[in-house]
This record gives sequence, C-alpha cells and structure tokens, in this order.
Amino acid sequence: MTRINENYRKLQAGYLFPEIARRVGEFSAANPDAKIIRLGIGDVTLPLAPAIVEALRSAAEEMGRETGVHGYGPESGYDFLIEAICEHDYRARGVEIATNEVFVSDGSKQDSGNIQEIFGTESRIAVTDPSYPVYVDTNVMAGRSGNARADGAYEGILYLPATEANDFAPPPPEEPVDLVYLCSPNNPTGSVASQENLTAWVRWARQNDSVLIFDAAYDAFIQDDDLPHSIYEIEGARECAIEMRSYSKRAGFTGVRCAYTVVPRQLEGTTSDGERVCLADLWSRRQATKFNSVPYPVQRAAAAVYSPEGRKQTAEQVAYYMRNAALLREGLQAAGFGVFGGEHAPYVWMKTPGGISSWDCFGELLSRAHVVGTPGSGFGACGEGYIRISAFNSRENVEEAIARIRRVFSG
Ligand code: MLT
Repeated sequence: MTRINENYRKLQAGYLFPEIARRVGEFSAANPDAKIIRLGIGDVTLPLAPAIVEALRSAAEEMGRETGVHGYGPESGYDFLIEAICEHDYRARGVEIATNEVFVSDGSKQDSGNIQEIFGTESRIAVTDPSYPVYVDTNVMAGRSGNARADGAYEGILYLPATEANDFAPPPPEEPVDLVYLCSPNNPTGSVASQENLTAWVRWARQNDSVLIFDAAYDAFIQDDDLPHSIYEIEGARECAIEMRSYSKRAGFTGVRCAYTVVPRQLEGTTSDGERVCLADLWSRRQATKFNSVPYPVQRAAAAVYSPEGRKQTAEQVAYYMRNAALLREGLQAAGFGVFGGEHAPYVWMKTPGGISSWDCFGELLSRAHVVGTPGSGFGACGEGYIRISAFNSRENVEEAIARIRRVFSG
C-alpha cells in the first residue's frame, strides 16, 4: 500500500490562479461573445524586448555550431550572468554580493517554494497576510502546519496582518519565529517596504536568530530611488536574509523562465546539537541535486537585460505597465473606490464595492464587466474584502476595464 503525503490533503481548494482560470473558462464557454479583459494573474503582455530576442537568437545559433555546443551548464549559473547580476543589481546600489552567493534558477516561484526544504520541518514560519500563496502552500505540503481553519488560515503558521493601518507592511512579531517571508514591492497589495520597516525586520531577525526570505521579484517597479530595492541595503541583512529576484515581470520572462536567489555566505542555520551550518552550502547542494541549470540561451537573454539597449528597452516596458497602474489607481480612486498600491508595483489593491466578499466581487466583475481580477481572500484571510487588479495589459484594455468597472459598480 502506497501512502500519500497527507499534508497535501490539508491544502484548501486548488492553487489560486488555476482556479481563477477555471472559472473564467467556464464563463467564457457560456458567453462566447464576451470580450474578457484579463487583469487577474500578473502575466506580461508586451512582446520580448528586441535586445532579449537578439540574445536568444544568437545563443541558439551559437549552439547550432560545432564550436558553440553548450550542454549542462554550471548548476548555479554562467559567470557572465552572475557577474552582471553582482555588478548591476547590487554594486550599482552600494551592495557587495560575491559570485558564489548567487544561484540562477528558472523562476522565483520555484525558489520561494523550494527554499523551505533546507530548513527543519519543525521550523515555525510566519507570513504577512495577505501574501503570495506559494509561501504558505509549500510549507503546508512539507508538514509545517496543522489543518486549515474556517477562514482558510492554517494552524501553526503565524499570520501577520498587512492592513491599511500599517500601510500593508506589518512590523516584526513579539514572538520568535524561525522563518519569515517578506515581499517588497508587495504581491498582492502593491505596497512597498520602507527603509525603517526593513531595518526593524533585520534587527528583529538578528536578535531572534531567524531567517528572512525576502522576495524582491518586483523590485524594478520601484519608482523612488531612495526606497530599498534589496534587503542587503539594510545593515546586518547578510547575516539573516535570503533574497529572490526574477526577470519575469521586469523583462517579460514569464514564458522564458529565469530568476536568481542570493544566499550570503555568512548566513547560518543550526543543527539539533547546536552546530552552525552555512545555508548557502545547503542550497547549493539542493540545487545541484534537483536542478540542472537554466538553458544557455535563456541565461544569455537574462544577461542582455543588463546591456545598454536591454536596460533601456526593459525600463520602457516597466514604465508602460506603471502608467497602466497609475491609470487604474487614479481612475478607480476618482470614482470613489478605496484603492491602494500601484505606485511602486504593478498591482492595485481595491476594496470591494459595498463590502461584498472578494469572490463575489470577482464574480460580479467577470459576469457584469467581463473583467478578471484576483480575489484578495485567495492571498489570505486579511485579503478578504479586497480584489487585486493587475496592470499587465494593453493601455487600451486597461482604460476600457476602468470604464467598465466604474459603470458596473456605480450603476
Ligand atoms: C501573480 O499574479 O501573483 C503572479 O503572476 C504569480 C506568479 O508570479 O507566480
């Protein structure tokens, strides 16, 4: 008899985005003439920038020549990409990251889901509520939670409410926790953590010997240069934080797949008999065993993001989406909706009109406005009463969606 991992049975319903896709598919099949505007999952809509396409093309051609064969790559990534990361994403902002602290991967979803494997199953985790569902679900699968309660929250996980009152950036908890997932700019609330907030987190983590898992997948959307792009801009973070970055949103790589995780050499965990162990060594061992590096052309494409043309072209794409975010924010605010985020992130976080539930709002938006959003409650109990609207779409569709939402909810 083959026993299953029963932790999977604790998971609530399906994963959020496939569930939304299922409901949208059903509606679309029943209403084939509806012109649906998809502002649900944060998936890019602009074509790949020319510099990226050129890098992919020429790397593929290179691999077609006898002298250009690239088989298995180095498991942490090619030096040309890692050096560009250290130079442009870190040194340019005054942060020194060594090349052996960077681990290139095929996505931050994977990294943020897999990183928990290097920690003990008895580790207590905390997440901000709402948060990206991968953080909680992967820890539930690994057995770090009890059962789900009626509001969908799991016993044994500490949820830190991210609310209007704390600008959606909760302070550290009173109690010690082993692992804390933070995300800035935040998915789903579109908020951004301040220097003060992150400083408080780093201080707390060092005092409690905790590890922060800092998801910075949306850092390119920060509009104010004084705001921290990296947790390592905070003094002491090298001793307590792991950071994840992605090319998905910043350079349109959702279908290309490339990201990276930084694990500083100073960062340590503890064995049951008190021995201190370098976490970068464990992550390196995990990746070398379970992952076979990102394809060469994809890493060349990621490196092209840092070329002068790549930087200019991808910055223009980010600016395009951020203009959409500003239009959503201003257009919905002007119509009297409670709207947050959208200033340093490609998401706006809107209070549901009339206080209806998140899923009811999702249903109303879909059936009456033919607009897809993401129900806030899908990101955690504190997301109830909100809906997330993504800025990833064409200008025309975003303007049309704003007009439809205003019409439906004010009529
Ligand atoms: C989202 O919509 O939250 C993201 O696109 C999902 C992801 O990055 O996996």
